Amino acid sequence: MAVLVTGGAGYIGSHTCVELMGAGHNVIILDNFSNSKAETAERIGQIAGCAPTVYEADLLNRSDLDKLFSMHDISSVVHFAGFKAVGESVELPLIYYKNNIAGTLNLCETMREHGCRSLVFSSSATVYGQSLDVPFHEDSPLSATNPYGWTKLMIEQILRDLHASDPEWAISILRYFNPVGAHKSGVIGEDSHGIPNNLAPYIAQVAAGKLPCLNVFGGDYDTPDGTGVRDYLHVVDLAVGHLRALEYVTRQKGVQAINLGTGVGTSVLEMVAAFERASGVSIQYKIQPRRPGDIATCYADPSKAKELLGWTAQRGIDEMCADHWAFVKKNA
Ligand code: WQD
Repeated sequence: MAVLVTGGAGYIGSHTCVELMGAGHNVIILDNFSNSKAETAERIGQIAGCAPTVYEADLLNRSDLDKLFSMHDISSVVHFAGFKAVGESVELPLIYYKNNIAGTLNLCETMREHGCRSLVFSSSATVYGQSLDVPFHEDSPLSATNPYGWTKLMIEQILRDLHASDPEWAISILRYFNPVGAHKSGVIGEDSHGIPNNLAPYIAQVAAGKLPCLNVFGGDYDTPDGTGVRDYLHVVDLAVGHLRALEYVTRQKGVQAINLGTGVGTSVLEMVAAFERASGVSIQYKIQPRRPGDIATCYADPSKAKELLGWTAQRGIDEMCADHWAFVKKNA
């Protein structure tokens, strides 16, 4: 029996493969390397002790998908593969809808044809949209403010309808908050090409001297220090959450949306201070106007993950920044 991890060479996918393999699962990676590197599979192998089976393939290619399921006895799927840049999705909506939604439809059809109905899906806290209902719990109002967010929301609905049509499906929809950090070994981490959109990799590049200054998007929010507050989560905690969700879907049918967050809000300036502690480097920053589409405060109510999966985040902000910095230094 094997677990298929789509997008398994990516940032969160690779950390999840390490945890799955560490728990004894036989992992197969499907990735088209559009936003990851083939060498990451070897790096996963360095940590796990043996390299996972890897297929360079695209979910939009049904015949490749069918071949893969015919060659392996796949018991469950952890589905990460998808485009995830908010700004890019606004510029290229058709590419986002086709890649993320059609790819998921192909995957689910192929799973069904091969009798595999256990799925862990990578969703996002972005589905809570502009809601002010913080901390966000799984029944908070859902909405989207960009095509990327809409693809997550639509796929969540598709999965609910799929289960309603066939109760044999066991599906965990995992809503991540803000993943940060890297595996303690420094062998895998967030390998960001170009100028990062997200806060942590941007701060890391300023600390490494690759970027001159952090632009803080907004200093006048209704938050303790005026800057945006988010729920930053160590990527290894997030990966362990996927292992728990996989164990859950192998014993429990149905569809469950589950937040994976710490339940703690941290501001931009608090993240800057944490990174300065971790790196020993002073981070230059400048307060700029707010970024369109941003909300002031976003953090999780993680109680359902604790109750259903027995999962809580174990690592704090300082460990996230220290591990992120260690990866950046080791791979500079
Ligand atoms: C965090 C905070 C910014 C960059 C996004 C996606 C979400 C999910 C996680 C995929 C905010 C501030 C940021 C910078 C800054 N991705 N910031 N200067 O926007 O909470 O979530 O990534 O699922 O879908 O929307 O993350 O890291 O971009 O921003 O001041 O250069 O840092 O305003 O307050 P965000 P982020």
